Amino acid sequence: MTLILGLESSCDDTAVALVTGDRRILAQRVVGQNQAHQPFGGVVPEIAARAHVEVLPSLVTDVLGEAGIALDEVDAIAATAGPGLIGGVLVGLLTAKGLALASGKPLVAVNHLEGHALSPRLVDPDLAFPYLLLLASGGHCQLLEVRGVGDYSRLATTIDDAAGEAFDKAAKLLGLPYPGGPAVEALARSGDPKAVPLPRPLVGSGEPHFSFAGLKSAVQRAVLAGTHRPEDIAASFQQAVVDCFVDRTRIALAKSDAPTLVVAGGVAANISVRSALEQLAASEGRRFSVPPGWLCTDNAAMIAWAGAERFAAGLVDGLDAPARARWPL
Ligand code: KG4
Ligand code: ZN
Repeated sequence: MTLILGLESSCDDTAVALVTGDRRILAQRVVGQNQAHQPFGGVVPEIAARAHVEVLPSLVTDVLGEAGIALDEVDAIAATAGPGLIGGVLVGLLTAKGLALASGKPLVAVNHLEGHALSPRLVDPDLAFPYLLLLASGGHCQLLEVRGVGDYSRLATTIDDAAGEAFDKAAKLLGLPYPGGPAVEALARSGDPKAVPLPRPLVGSGEPHFSFAGLKSAVQRAVLAGTHRPEDIAASFQQAVVDCFVDRTRIALAKSDAPTLVVAGGVAANISVRSALEQLAASEGRRFSVPPGWLCTDNAAMIAWAGAERFAAGLVDGLDAPARARWPL
């Protein structure tokens, strides 16, 4: 059975995983850097890159050790080659190139977005192509038709902020720690989602694009007004994002006959997001698939799995594979 080692270092999580071609995760590690970045309220690229340098090699050793696998038993080394913070991407990609060189095994340069896009197939063996994907992370918010490995058609994107970025900005305005998504979700649990009137940007428009900048400004005004409870602002903000997701995804579904709706990326860890989209899929007569929360936020199992899918399709890369800060799917 194919064995793929995967490395992820494109943002603020350093991660390594060993995954088989028949969907077994033999070992994995994810080390976050939240504490290092928290004083700055967001990810500081240079701090992130230095932290990846410090922990990545030992994670590789730990993962291989736990699985009882030697490097030369691995079939390929997959690493995120972009998009992301270029310092971190370079650390992971160069580490993978070193491992590939030492073992004589091929490198698979993985697009981080493809990692998120294919991640549901790691845990859902019945998830066949094509599927309609809402990819909502810290850096992206897109609706894509996933037609096959390396075959993606983008139906919509955000015209300003990504959804996770909106959660992070709302959290900052509410005085919550980074990363904002889980903190806003936790606070929203005790709030009233109808308490604060907030806009639903682009809802009702015929193309399924997203916009979150105006929502962030409205949250800012609500915070400054001082008349609302923070938990009500958090709940109302989260509901506004969910409403945008549902409306925009419904428009995209009308343009696609893909039988399954899938949500992935860090924001897909949010329970309200998951359940609203599950309901939408049911009402539109589509199957629904969402990875578990740990597979939605950044991890290396999804990179190893995308590597396994690419390797199986004969898509390997040379040691000259570039690191890319920007890399649309
Ligand atoms: O996919 P991801 O881990 O990294 C990127 O590729 O960007 O996504 C991180 C983003 C952050 O903006 C974080 O606040 C958001 O996902 N996020 C959430 C939740 N967990 C993470 N947003 C809403 N609710 C959550 N539970
Ligand atoms: Zn990500």
